Amino acid sequence: MKISAVIFDLDGVIVSTDEYHYQAWKEISDQENIYFDREINETLRGVSRMESLDIILSRSDRRYNDNEKQLLALRKNEIYCKLLNNLSPNNILPGVINLLLRLKARDIKVAIGSSSKNTPFILQQIGLTSNFDAIADGNSIKNSKPDPEVFLLAADMMGVTPMVCAVIEDAQAGIDAAKAAGMKAVGIGSASTCLNADLKLKDLTNLDIDQLLDVNELRS
Ligand code: BG6
Ligand code: MG
Repeated sequence: MKISAVIFDLDGVIVSTDEYHYQAWKEISDQENIYFDREINETLRGVSRMESLDIILSRSDRRYNDNEKQLLALRKNEIYCKLLNNLSPNNILPGVINLLLRLKARDIKVAIGSSSKNTPFILQQIGLTSNFDAIADGNSIKNSKPDPEVFLLAADMMGVTPMVCAVIEDAQAGIDAAKAAGMKAVGIGSASTCLNADLKLKDLTNLDIDQLLDVNELRS
């Protein structure tokens, strides 16, 4: 049996939005007088917007009610979306286009599986919307990674079973979600140190496509 579908996480796999998330959360944290740095930003990788806010607010002495939290999340997203206006196809990460072309040539289905509610806007900015057979994102799920919901939805949208799917992720939460979905998990960048990733790579430039598509290749 071979892998017949590949699900890509978006932020940190297709495009790097880390800096924009950092700048937007930093502005909110400064406004609220809460300590926030790049190391804390790293812990927000793959985590939903509201859960990220809870992590940031946990460093405050103050308690925030739901209404205040909604307003802070809204403000963060306004700042973030303004920064996303700068995104262009130049921001697509190395190896992505080449991999998409090679997968298409082999008739492998491709999907996005992202926690981000900004997925449609980001894909539009980098010009890749029509390159995917399915797009499962933060707008269509109830439970964020490490819950497997977004990947199971992507598989369902492509009409394939989870066991023939490989997921490419840059976050521990995403690798956990892929394994919980019963899928092969490829960790790149920050996720290349994840103990439960089936394949570990610095980035997508040196990906061996046969290794990616081999369902039995479970450890690198
Ligand atoms: C994930 C990012 O892809 O999306 C997280 O790694 C982010 O950092 C999450 O919090 C939600 O994103 P958005 O765009 O819906 O705020
Ligand atoms: Mg990611």
